[in-house]
Amino acid sequence: MKIIVTKNYEEMSAQAGKLLAEIIKSKPDCVLGLATGGTPVGVYDYLTDLFERGELSFARTSSVNLDEYYPISSSNSQSYRYFMNKKLFDRVDIDKANTFAPNGSAEDVLAECKKYDELIDRMGIDVQLLGIGRNGHIGFNEPEDELHRGTHLTALTPDTISANARFFASVSEVPTHAITMGIGSVFKAKKIILLASGKSKADAIRQVITGGITTSCPASLLCLHPDVTVICDEDAYSLV
Ligand code: F6R
Repeated sequence: MKIIVTKNYEEMSAQAGKLLAEIIKSKPDCVLGLATGGTPVGVYDYLTDLFERGELSFARTSSVNLDEYYPISSSNSQSYRYFMNKKLFDRVDIDKANTFAPNGSAEDVLAECKKYDELIDRMGIDVQLLGIGRNGHIGFNEPEDELHRGTHLTALTPDTISANARFFASVSEVPTHAITMGIGSVFKAKKIILLASGKSKADAIRQVITGGITTSCPASLLCLHPDVTVICDEDAYSLV
């Protein structure tokens, strides 16, 4: 596990953005595994900036997102599909037909999960960007006795619901469930970049870097993957 500690959120975003841009330049038809939430927004801004300056193109790049609330329509402004369109896809030259996220309005969730895992296997993720929950979740693989291998429907923990409430008018509006890649799906990525910013992530980052490997902190399993880079700011690193 490679660890890069940056001064602040802006530097964390720039470091991750640079790494992703290098990967896209060296393999223009690469498959990006992408995340939502507050953490990667700066990375998406950084990449958009490179695109606007004519230094980066996504024309041949594809993407697969980690998760989506359930049930939710893709046109709902709180959906992760909508988030990705606004924060990245609508701002660069990626072909949206090559961007994928779990279908939050699928009627048959089990079939949707199976289809998504098949898609991941078919496409092969070159690099997976991850945020981390303050409880150590990655994707929406919440702390549990047993973690899932593949894409599945999951109930969000009260802690995750309260953390995500900042994006909603009230906590009661936060969806309680999501479809998420499993730990096994995440581990299929050739390379993983884990981002963390702020003191609220410090305990989870301490566990990932110095703690035992435990399903009660799903991100701690990342130390078993052969190519993980953690990029976190000083606040997120402060308990290591
Ligand atoms: C989002 C995701 C989540 C977030 C995590 C951190 O697609 O899978 O694991 O990365 O909840 O969220 P933020 O970045 O909002 O602190």
